[in-house]
Amino acid sequence: MTDAAQPDVETAELFTEQEIRTFSFDIPQSTLLHTFAEELAAIGGPQAPGAKSKAALAAIELKFSFSKDQCELLSAYSDGLVSVLIFDGLQKISDASPPDELPDQTSLENRSDVLCLAARNQILLKLVDNRAFAYDMDNDGKLVRLVANFKGGGLTRIPAEPDIKELSSHSGLALGPHTEAPYRCAINAKDGHSPSPSSLILSALWNPSLEPTRVIPLPPILEKIGITNCLALTTGSFQFTRSDSFVRGKGEDGHNVSILEFDDNVGFAARFNSYRFSVNGNASRFVKTAYAALCQGVREATPIEYTLTQESALLINNVRALHGRDIIQDNRRVLVRIFGLSKFSSPIVISEDPLRLQG
Ligand SMILES: [Fe+2]
Repeated sequence: MTDAAQPDVETAELFTEQEIRTFSFDIPQSTLLHTFAEELAAIGGPQAPGAKSKAALAAIELKFSFSKDQCELLSAYSDGLVSVLIFDGLQKISDASPPDELPDQTSLENRSDVLCLAARNQILLKLVDNRAFAYDMDNDGKLVRLVANFKGGGLTRIPAEPDIKELSSHSGLALGPHTEAPYRCAINAKDGHSPSPSSLILSALWNPSLEPTRVIPLPPILEKIGITNCLALTTGSFQFTRSDSFVRGKGEDGHNVSILEFDDNVGFAARFNSYRFSVNGNASRFVKTAYAALCQGVREATPIEYTLTQESALLINNVRALHGRDIIQDNRRVLVRIFGLSKFSSPIVISEDPLRLQG
């Protein structure tokens, strides 16, 4: 590396630091959050009718206990100006150590500790004015998704390892940098499709080998590739392949989509998936150069690695940051994920309680 390149590296690091913020709960605050999460879990968790208003009330109550700095941090995320918000200082949900083999998906989904983690995630989303939701065509229409190796592809084979591995969070495969699908639009519904999730929030039930989740904030990359390339990424010159997490027969490939869009509220919003997107063959030279520059920027970025436990949650701004992970090493790893919809998003609503959107 030349000396001349050094200031750029430092600027990028500083930039990244501003994008990743930590909200630390003190003990009384985390005790209160835990109580609300247990109450929400007791009625069935985020999927239950009434969970939505209960989570909203819990968030209001919690905010009374927050300092001015804490409130400002939540506002910054709510306003779309932060890539990642780490919540730490949270209470452990249960001491139960993982069994030797991963239980089946349905029995895991109904566990009280899973419902409690999901409920806590729903309340945390509400603290940043995000509503928990599901798409009709993804994750079987359910709000809570368990991220675990149910379908094989991890470092260690599972008992019924299939030949063809699904490239989704239900497999053990490494997942390259991506934002969450759907990819038609990022903020406002378009052509009958709701926007991408505004946020995703993850916590861990079990993570015995302390396997990290990786996040790459986009602002330093976009700054690096420059204005002409960014403008080229706003053209509808890209295509993507269908996600493996979609319900059978629903959801499809997409053509003529953009990667970046300008938005009056949040500045820019992105959609990208390093293993599903490509540039149209007939796109202009400028667009192809821009796509190559973006891919290179993503490849060269140093991801932030965060290791989830029950005592933390990772909130990722899905229109401002990419995330991914390595191949799963310990098949007992289970994360609990929910999508959030920001105050700026305008989706196509199918049902209000629980919130379900047309994907
Ligand atoms: Fe993902």
